[in-house]
Amino acid sequence: MHVLVTGGSGYIGSHTVLELLKDGHQVSVVDNLSNSSEESLRRITKMTGKKIAFHNFDLVEGDQLDKLFSNNSFDVVMHFAGFKAVGESVYKPIKYYQNNLDSTLSLCQVMSKHGVKKLIFSSSAVVYGPPDRVPITEDMLLHPTNPYGHTKAMIEQILSDIVQTNQGWEITALRYFNPIGADESDMIGEDPTGIPNNLVPYISQVAVGKLDKLKVFGNDYDTPDGTGIRDYIHVTDVAKGHVAAMHKLPRPNHMAIYNLGTGKGNSVLEVIEAFKKASGKDIPYVVAARRPGDIAEYFASVSKVKDKLNWQVEKIFFRPVKILGVGSQKILMGIANS
Ligand code: WQD
Repeated sequence: MHVLVTGGSGYIGSHTVLELLKDGHQVSVVDNLSNSSEESLRRITKMTGKKIAFHNFDLVEGDQLDKLFSNNSFDVVMHFAGFKAVGESVYKPIKYYQNNLDSTLSLCQVMSKHGVKKLIFSSSAVVYGPPDRVPITEDMLLHPTNPYGHTKAMIEQILSDIVQTNQGWEITALRYFNPIGADESDMIGEDPTGIPNNLVPYISQVAVGKLDKLKVFGNDYDTPDGTGIRDYIHVTDVAKGHVAAMHKLPRPNHMAIYNLGTGKGNSVLEVIEAFKKASGKDIPYVVAARRPGDIAEYFASVSKVKDKLNWQVEKIFFRPVKILGVGSQKILMGIANS
């Protein structure tokens, strides 16, 4: 199939492009490069020997998007493009609502005009907000606590309303938990600009000496070791989850929603220990105050995605970690979800 991947040069988008090519599909990418580089696509082409048609513009540029659909026959669209930093969204809500919603509406409008009605949307577990219980199931009420999470929940609602028009749309939303790691090729990975907000990229920068120590945000949570528990899913598994979802889209006029996680949680201290064990590097840390908005425990129920898509994660064991140079800031790891 010919798949259009929006935001395809980004962290999760690029890993999904790679898995799509491995699965034998033709891939086009549209990305405004606001938070990524075309280098990831060049490296994927080098790895696979397969061309990727890259289009550098913003989805809100409706004329360019319309021309792209006129010149191509896309079978499916995978929509990753969007801003995704929780913290930044709190300080810049207008930027987040405008970008994430307008780009999605522009995309859906052009897809509808050209009769392309198969869509996979990159959603997020942040739509749940503080859960009443864990593991978190897809039928739980959504009460996101930040503008980024609200944009994802709003887009899910927009897509649900589009499906209700009975014009033949087939839509799947995938709610990721905590994607981490990098493709085993060593060629692509997460390379956050500035000081990383998220735990694993921060630890990797401590490990390579770019940062001197980690702050553990709170050790007084109601968890076994007092630190926050999350569902860390390898980014390659997230990418493969998209391919699995594409092979099993819902029937016309239906929308499906799945969690993408491992179904188990690891604490901050467990992640630190696992990283130290695998890398042989010390990870100095200090315990600091809780981070506002953080919650104690967050991990997915994965029974629905296993049952409906026959998909589950593959990388659940810790593998020797190769920490690359400061420049690449890449790690290759899964975490034992013992
Ligand atoms: C994980 C744990 C922290 C950094 C994020 C994004 C969200 C979503 C998933 C896209 C928590 C602790 C962290 C540090 C720490 N991504 N921590 N010191 O907050 O669960 O969710 O990823 O949809 O957008 O917010 O991930 O990696 O920031 O935190 O102690 O320097 O690590 O308190 O318990 P989070 P995270």
